[in-house]
Formats: sequence, structure tokens, C-alpha cells
Amino acid sequence: MKINVHYSNQHLEELYFTGKTSVVIDVLRATTVIVTALVNGAREIIPVSTVDFAMKVSGNAFGGQTLLGGERNTKMIEGFQLGNSPREYKPKVVAGKSIILYTTNGSRSIVKAKFSENLFTCSFQNLPAVAAHLLTLNKDVEIICAGNNGSFNMEDAVCAGRLIAELKQPDNPELDDLARACLILNKTFGKNLKKMLKESEHGRLLIENGFIDDLAICAEVGITDVIPSYSSGIIKKLEIITAADDQTDSKAGQKSN
Ligand code: MLT
Repeated sequence: MKINVHYSNQHLEELYFTGKTSVVIDVLRATTVIVTALVNGAREIIPVSTVDFAMKVSGNAFGGQTLLGGERNTKMIEGFQLGNSPREYKPKVVAGKSIILYTTNGSRSIVKAKFSENLFTCSFQNLPAVAAHLLTLNKDVEIICAGNNGSFNMEDAVCAGRLIAELKQPDNPELDDLARACLILNKTFGKNLKKMLKESEHGRLLIENGFIDDLAICAEVGITDVIPSYSSGIIKKLEIITAADDQTDSKAGQKSN
């Protein structure tokens, strides 16, 4: 299994991802928000790369059941109903809703990788489930860390390192240099995730802006098996069809024939 890690989306070409299996990580906070929204009953998330497009899509799309969510400089955008704090995406707010999400780095990274054959989002909250699914797929993986306006960030690199470690490929000769570096960063900084997030540049900015409580939520590991999966512009919960489901379906089919 080849694993390439990208430290930001900004230098990447959309067509590079054609046919690939890709995972986008934006621990603080877009990919934590996405999984929280789906766990709490959101119908789907529509990631967009500009605020203008978010406004256009929201008008009459999706039967009016839309909410605009996201941030600019960590804060809710004028005209939006939700910011980018996972604490806002409660069941009573998001259940049954289509959420159009614009964030500075996270939603744009997802849009960048839109031509992938398989495209998932990962945060610490669903990392074991994403790793298990990647092992089942057994394909080469592109990990896109959302980073920070074109720069590297610590929290996405540590999360990527933990994901690679869970893929149980420590001696994989096919890791690129950044994947190897992420493994080491995870060993060093992944022992205390809350501390790592508090000390990270974006963590400090979030604390300054009143979002300290988000950090503990973003540091929770493996609290859900939900895997957000992107297809044709929309992120939904991945439905995994097992061999047992297949047999049940074909038996049901035989009965009804
Ligand atoms: C981003 O996309 O850069 C983030 O999710 C920013 C944030 O939540 O503060």
C-alpha cells in the first residue's frame, strides 16, 4: 500500500486525484464538524470552496432543508446559521438537514480531491473506523492534511501519523517522506492530544477566539464508526455492505421472485 501525505491542499491539482483513494484531515475543525453533524443526524454535507457558492447553493436547493455552516478566521460568516464549532451541530439543530459547509482549509481540501474514486474525511473521532475501512479496500492512499492557508500544521500531521500507524504499515517501504515524518510526529506529540492541540498554532488562535472547549472534543479518539464519504458533490455516511448483507439481499430477492 503506497501512502502519500500532502501538508496542504493549495499546491495540489484536482486532476491528480482522479481514480485515487483519498482521505482529508482537518482536525481543527472541519472534519470533526463533518463527522459530528452526520452522527447527529444531518442528511448530508455539501462542502464548497467559496462563500459566494455557498450562498448560491443554499437558496432553493435540497427542498429548503439547508443550513449554511462554516467559518472565516474561526468565526461564523454573516448570513450563515452555523459556525464551525462541533458544539453547534447538535441533533436538534442538524437532524434531517443538508449542511452547506465553507471553511478556510477543510472544505476546500475536500473539493480539491473531488475526482477521487473514494474520498473520506477523517478526524481523531472516527480515525479507527477510517483505518479499518482503508485496510479492507487495500488500495494506495492519498492523505490530504488541510493545513493552514498553504502551510503545514501539527494537528493534521499527528492525525495522519496515527492513521498510518493504525494501517499497521510501520515498515512499509512505500511511504513518502511526509508519511514517515507524520509517523514520528505522532509518536512524539500524539501521546497527549489535548496538549498538542492547545499548543498548536491554530489551537492557540481558537483559544484566543473563545473556542477552548472545542479542543477537547477534537481530541476525542474513536468515539464513532461513522465514515463520511464524498460522492458527486455530497458527503454522506458510508454504508458498508458486508458479505452477510449481500446474502440476505439475494435471499430476499429469491423469495420475492
Ligand atoms: C479550516 O477549514 O481552516 C478550519 O476548519 C478552521 C476553523 O475551524 O477554525
